[in-house]
Amino acid sequence: KGCKLVGCGSAVPALQISNDDLSKIVDTSDEWISVRTGIRARRVLSGRENLASLAVEAARKALEMAKVDPDDVDLILMCTSTPDDLFGSAPQIQNQLGCKTNPLSYDITAACSGFLMGLVSAACHIRGGGFNNVLVIGADAVSRFVDWTDRGTCILFGDGAGAVMVQACNSEEDGLFAFDLHSDGIGGRHLGAAIKENESNNALDSNDSVFGFPPKQSSYSCIQMNGKEVFRFAIRCVPQSIESALEKAGLPVSSIDWLLLHQANQRIIDAVATRLELPSERVISNLANYGNTSAASIPLALDQAVRSGKVKPGQTIATAGFGAGLTWGSAIIRW
Ligand code: ACO
Repeated sequence: KGCKLVGCGSAVPALQISNDDLSKIVDTSDEWISVRTGIRARRVLSGRENLASLAVEAARKALEMAKVDPDDVDLILMCTSTPDDLFGSAPQIQNQLGCKTNPLSYDITAACSGFLMGLVSAACHIRGGGFNNVLVIGADAVSRFVDWTDRGTCILFGDGAGAVMVQACNSEEDGLFAFDLHSDGIGGRHLGAAIKENESNNALDSNDSVFGFPPKQSSYSCIQMNGKEVFRFAIRCVPQSIESALEKAGLPVSSIDWLLLHQANQRIIDAVATRLELPSERVISNLANYGNTSAASIPLALDQAVRSGKVKPGQTIATAGFGAGLTWGSAIIRW
């Protein structure tokens, strides 16, 4: 059994924050940010928006393009590290989409590689699990965990959502040629937002606790990152992963119509393209307008490239995600 991509959609918050806006709250400048990262602006959740509302909007557009009724969706994978609910939000999204048939839906947490892991999971569910219409959503609101006083990280991130519809097909039409996925917990120290115990337990006075129970209440820290190490990791591991996926697919680099990487830093994208000897005309980038939207960045950039007519049906895309965990991986797909 094969699987193919039949629709995509995306959504971003209304509030846009420019580099100049950021320079009013931290010691930075438009020039520093754009030269070092390629980012000019990002969107951030505000007002009544939440992550689920963005995810639902992106998913509806993908269903519409795919001409798939919500009742025919049999699996929803919500790839996010910043859900509206700690226990996951895929079932809420399923409800808001109006799926009356109770499809399976669950969350996948793999930071900026989340969408890629979701895409490969969708293919595995279709090939081995009898699923036919799988909606893969990549959505993140990293702004919730950014330290807005830390100029080293707050300039990088933005919020957004993207979705693709993956459908079962016969093997001749198969649109996921090969993939290559990895993780490394040791390198994870370079990037994270770890849990921390709060100073006091709101529920009980410390005198009331017995044998250290109940434990102190916890919350998550803001993002901590060693930017240089993450940069080095990305430019070392991403080209290797794409080369390995191409090898598994039996395809040469020249067969790639588009290189679509997780949008983290334009210098990372350029370095990977150079290493693969791919010209800049074959590279997709929307980083300037949206920054790093974590699990949303690949489907958001794909959707914009498809809707603008850049990516055409039948074209081959090498896509790769990388980020916290550390996690990374790539897939060779046909649009
Ligand atoms: N504005 C002005 N100056 C700054 C800023 C800023 N926003 N940020 C840092 N600086 C200063 C530093 O303090 C430092 O000053 P010093 O030389 O006086 O000490 C100088 O600029 C150089 O700082 P570096 O951190 O060495 O700058 P670098 O060239 O490494 O760029 C960056 C930093 C942009 C963060 C880069 O390392 C990077 O993009 N790394 C990859 C990060 C990434 O992609 N993370 C997300 C992964 S995906 C996920 O899963 C979340």
